[in-house]
Amino acid sequence: MKPAMTLPGAPYLARQAGDLRLDGHALAELASRFGTPLYVYSRAAMRDAFMAYERALAGRRHLVCYAMKANSSLAVLQTFAQAGAGFDIVSGGELARVLAAGGDASRVVFSGVGKTRAEMRQALQAGVRCFNVESETELDTLNEEALGLGCRAPVSLRVNPDVDAGTHPYISTGLKGNKFGIAHAHAVAAYRHAAALPGLHVVGIDCHIGSQITQLAPYLDALDRLLDLVEQVEAAGVPIYHVDVGGGLGITYTDETPPAATALVQAVLRKLDARGHGHREVLFEPGRSLVGNAGVLVTEVLVLKPGAADAGGKNFCVVDAAMNDLLRPALYEAWMGIEPCVQREGPCSTWDVVGPVCESSDWLGRGRELAVERGDKLAVLSAGAYGMAMASNYNTRPRAAEVMVDGPRVHLIREREDARTLFAGERLL
Ligand code: LLP
Repeated sequence: MKPAMTLPGAPYLARQAGDLRLDGHALAELASRFGTPLYVYSRAAMRDAFMAYERALAGRRHLVCYAMKANSSLAVLQTFAQAGAGFDIVSGGELARVLAAGGDASRVVFSGVGKTRAEMRQALQAGVRCFNVESETELDTLNEEALGLGCRAPVSLRVNPDVDAGTHPYISTGLKGNKFGIAHAHAVAAYRHAAALPGLHVVGIDCHIGSQITQLAPYLDALDRLLDLVEQVEAAGVPIYHVDVGGGLGITYTDETPPAATALVQAVLRKLDARGHGHREVLFEPGRSLVGNAGVLVTEVLVLKPGAADAGGKNFCVVDAAMNDLLRPALYEAWMGIEPCVQREGPCSTWDVVGPVCESSDWLGRGRELAVERGDKLAVLSAGAYGMAMASNYNTRPRAAEVMVDGPRVHLIREREDARTLFAGERLL
């Protein structure tokens, strides 16, 4: 018998009498009803994660902008819009989604290292709250586009504070060698430049140092570096209204112990107060910490391929979800929990849980102790963030369906894709 453990996603995700349930809904039943692979999200888990930031920020001028790249499905955006969130977007497509979900452009910050002119115009016309600008070239282009439309673009400069977030190199973004942000040493000059352009209005400063951060120290170091700049920039006569500390707060996939959102917010507010910046509006851009542990990916076991023991072979458990559905293991060697939807009695074996795609990198979990049979349903845990949002159609695999549970209700929020629609826009010669 395995020792009882707390599941990531608890208390929303729990095992009851052998059945894995999200907000009380048995995942195996949802899989039978909607098919697999199937993403399932808890609306309450998302709302509660957001409210933790809100409660910690009560009494302060603030805006929590959900970094929608983590999960941009419309019903997810709607959930956050209704809870009062703003949005951090990185493309014109994301802006269109926010508006389609009932979000408010005046609560949108537009991040990203390479915005097109068309995206700038789209965002200016929609009236976004702020552009997070990452280079002097972008300042000039945005100035031209704003003047062309007869308006002024609100800008914040994304500064690269050169701190190590201590996370995976692919998702670490605040170091000198990264493509992101304006180097700390050039920031004052960039602010002077921005302030001199008639089509721009300087409103803030921002940074984002990485993702899946499990310590407070990198945030506080980055904030110190940001506040040093705020003081220098204001001394140069350019007022700065808001400070945006970015996103990046980690979640528990296995044994990580990231600070709670409340602890992060409190530490940031304390630092702002201690340095005499407590009056400023403060922005956060959380993605993963709002949705990651609010969702799972349910998949069915298609084939069991026990390895030949004499050949030192591995046991492969081939499931119907693959790297196209959930890329994180293949791309970052990310560890994500895998649990049977219905617990089986009997001995466990060690399995590599893999998908049907023709790549050896197509695995969801390696060396997992599972008692499993063909036809069983497994749940990949912590899959609410950067799961569906990074899904592709590789191998002409239709993307999964998505379900959101909301108290007693079950909503199909995205239909399973149909293979024919995948090539509907293509033409034969
Ligand atoms: N703000 C900016 C400017 C960002 O680039 C990001 C994430 C966020 C906020 C939200 O970060 P979060 O709170 O989610 O950590 N696909 C990777 C993560 C990439 C994160 C990219 N930027 C993964 O699956 O781990």
